[in-house]
Amino acid sequence: MLATPLHTSIIGSRVLVYEEVTSTNDRALQLRGDGLVVVADRQTAGRGRHGRSWASAPGLGLWFSIGFDGPCEGLAFAAPLSVRDVLNSYGCAAVKWPNDVLLNGRKVCGILLESRRNRMALGIGINVHHQAADFPEELRAKATSIELATGHCVDRGTLLREVLTALDARIVSLRAGKRDAVHAEWSEACGVVGRRVRHHDRVGTVRAVDRDGTLLIETDKGVERVLLGEIVELNGA
Ligand code: BTN
Repeated sequence: MLATPLHTSIIGSRVLVYEEVTSTNDRALQLRGDGLVVVADRQTAGRGRHGRSWASAPGLGLWFSIGFDGPCEGLAFAAPLSVRDVLNSYGCAAVKWPNDVLLNGRKVCGILLESRRNRMALGIGINVHHQAADFPEELRAKATSIELATGHCVDRGTLLREVLTALDARIVSLRAGKRDAVHAEWSEACGVVGRRVRHHDRVGTVRAVDRDGTLLIETDKGVERVLLGEIVELNGA
């Protein structure tokens, strides 16, 4: 998938390409190597946040994970920013809390961070060649692919190289201690601070996003901390 070597410092110490795995995150957690990249054409048990499954049909998307030896604070912000930067050359990309990337207003990329013992996996799924019929009906209004949103038929190897290169530069910054700057950039980019949102039956205004991604929502009952789950942004905020 990567015809020539990557010019990166941390990511891509090894790149393993599979036709099929259960989940690239599984492989990245099982194997060793800081910056190990695992890519698969098909995942038989691709997973998303909140225990949901992540449809990973062959030929349609870019499904990959990067394994790290130990925690990497700020990755949850660095990863969506890197994907957004790359996708901006194809269409109008934006980051959305907690760590989605949208293209022309619809979700094109999901990110799943998992850790096991002292190992961390950053899993990234990007919808590349999907047509509307490739998404289940209930997702059609919310999901998109690069091809569907922009008409660009992007080569998945090229896209992988672009994302890994962008992400590597951001991880170098994180490891150089620039975590606050990455957090501030993400917070500004996702624009959720100051918005009126609904979380379950509570409505409030987002006052801040913590360094771990927790939303601080001011409601009439006080400040609610929301790390998991879905929020609905309300119009007229
Ligand atoms: C989400 O939005 O819920 C996160 C989806 C993450 C999907 C990617 S695809 C590559 C990696 N392997 C997985 O099993 N999941 C992530």
